[in-house]
Amino acid sequence: MKTQLKLTMAAIAACFALGAIAADAPKSMRGIDVAAPDAVASEKAYVGSRPGTTKPVARTFSTQPPVIPHSIENFSDINLEENACMDCHSAATYKKKNAPKIGDSHFLNRDGQKLDEASAARHNCVQCHVPQVDAPPLVDNQFQGDVKKADAKKPAKKN
Ligand code: HEC
Ligand code: HEC
Repeated sequence: MKTQLKLTMAAIAACFALGAIAADAPKSMRGIDVAAPDAVASEKAYVGSRPGTTKPVARTFSTQPPVIPHSIENFSDINLEENACMDCHSAATYKKKNAPKIGDSHFLNRDGQKLDEASAARHNCVQCHVPQVDAPPLVDNQFQGDVKKADAKKPAKKN
């Protein structure tokens, strides 16, 4: 009789424990059916309007390439012959275009020596600088940047 009672209690406890685990169980975004084809992500439009009308986006960590706050629609491609970004951001043009100059680090080679012109390794701007989409994070997170709030809000230097 005693053993039976113990067993019943153990069974009830196990049910509660399982219930707690089930409540916390992670939900897969892809689903549990491994054979199901991946859903194509919906296309989202970049936010931001004409350069010169947007505000820099606060940086979240000290070595972050700042994100592109303005639209980059209709700019020509970045290739061997042209780079539309440099029409406004190069050392020669930034003042006239009232745009922030490319970062100081862009004038260093890989050994840290100063160059007269921007390093070719920085030619493909959008490899590091990305435009923004107004989308909620897929997974909640508690990321804390290492930039003090006051510093992150500082607008880009116009040198
Ligand atoms: C017509 C001029 C123009 C062109 C072309 C242009 N930009 Fe900009 N960019 C600006 C201006 C002006 C700002 C300052 C924010 C604003 O007013 O929109 C800016 C801001 C930025 C910033 C933010 C800097 C910071 O400190 O937060 C980045 C990064 C940037 N641009 C990258 C690019 C890249 C990459 C391209 C090419 C795909 C590009 N820009 C093309 C004018 C331009
Ligand atoms: C390898 C990555 C990389 C590439 C490629 C790159 N950048 Fe950057 N950029 C950065 C980082 C990191 C910073 C922040 C540190 C700094 O200011 O150097 C930055 C800073 C900037 C800033 C802000 C400068 C300031 O004074 O606040 C502008 C504007 C910018 N980049 C434009 C460009 C443009 C235009 C190109 C293409 C010609 C480009 N970058 C290519 C990584 C990159």
